[in-house]
Amino acid sequence: MKLLVTGGAGFIGSNFIHYWLKNHPEDSIINLDSLTYAGNLENLAALKDNPHYRFIKGSITDPKIVEQAIQGVDWVVHFAAETHVDRSILGPAVFIETNVLGTQVLLDAAVKAQVKRFHHISTDEVFGALKLGDNKKFDEQTPYNPRSPYSASKAASDHLVRAYAETFGLPITISNCSNNYGPYQFPEKLIPLAITNLLEGKKVPVYGDGLYVRDWLYVQDHCRAIDVILQKGTVGETYCVGGMAKDVSNLEIIKAILNGLKKDESAIEYVKDRPGHDRRYAVDFSKITQELGWKPAFDFEHGIKATIDWYMKNKSWWAHIKSGEYKNYYAKQYGRK
Ligand code: NAD
Ligand code: DAU
Repeated sequence: MKLLVTGGAGFIGSNFIHYWLKNHPEDSIINLDSLTYAGNLENLAALKDNPHYRFIKGSITDPKIVEQAIQGVDWVVHFAAETHVDRSILGPAVFIETNVLGTQVLLDAAVKAQVKRFHHISTDEVFGALKLGDNKKFDEQTPYNPRSPYSASKAASDHLVRAYAETFGLPITISNCSNNYGPYQFPEKLIPLAITNLLEGKKVPVYGDGLYVRDWLYVQDHCRAIDVILQKGTVGETYCVGGMAKDVSNLEIIKAILNGLKKDESAIEYVKDRPGHDRRYAVDFSKITQELGWKPAFDFEHGIKATIDWYMKNKSWWAHIKSGEYKNYYAKQYGRK
């Protein structure tokens, strides 16, 4: 099987490529990535001599490059996107360009190349926000109600993917997954930001009252979910993917990290809230469990321990990122160094 992975130099994409080549060593992967601030070839350095892996630098918005990259491909696994909600508030335009127009360019090429499957990686954020203290969860029937430029752009891309299935007969699947965490996550997202700030002796910025709730999933479990959807999923279907049995607030997540690093709560700093901050996400993942036999292998306790260990052992990976352009972003977002 030949796979085209887009955005494979990012967090989940690079974990997926490692996962796939370990579990399906006979397959080959083409990784198409434009290497934005979030793309990092260091994540894939171990594969540089692997004959089953090839990297192409290019944007999914460029029809010529996409048409070349997709030649002879069986399955497309589409991760490439702008992904950080706070950046989508600072500058929405690139989110529309990559997430909406880029997806449309890729879909056109996939129809033309007659790929056997187009798997679109989406997010639970397309469903909007749930109330705190409610037992409701997002599932495959939840109406779309995106509330940030990021989630609106992902919602638009999901609609396009379904439209291409209906109109052009493209064999698609979609997964709407919750918040991932684990190795190689760019330290702008809550968990790697908290771990690396604490390792640098800095405080952890907590938005608002810190009582916001996310569903957290260890990245390897997400990779396994994509694998089962590709192998056993029904064409045309959507699968919600999540990792938590109960609600855990951002403050509780940060306290677990403080505990893991033997730090106290004086390292927490309450900062200005995110505009339009979604209160609560929770995911009902019973469809993928019942139909495809997937459930998370890592609970939060084990996943966060593995993640903290990874950031402790890989300081050069994140210190390098934090010393560059990241400093300007941090100053703009948090109003301090
Ligand atoms: P990331 O920001 O770490 O990586 C994104 C990758 O896409 C980078 O390598 C970047 O260079 C590449 N990219 C960006 N624009 C591109 C373009 N125009 N052409 C080619 N490549 C481009 O993202 P991530 O956290 O790994 O997320 C991957 C996918 O999973 C996204 O589609 C995201 O919406 C989705 N998702 C993420 C999470 C999460 O918690 N991180 C949860 C659910 C779904
Ligand atoms: O739900 C899936 C989504 O999860 C993905 O689609 C997105 O790509 C991914 O970025 C993530 O979005 P969130 O906005 O939920 O993740 P983030 O890590 O930015 O924030 C998690 C929570 O922590 C959220 O409630 C905001 C809060 N937060 C975040 C940062 C960066 C803070 O309190 N302080 C911070 O400094």
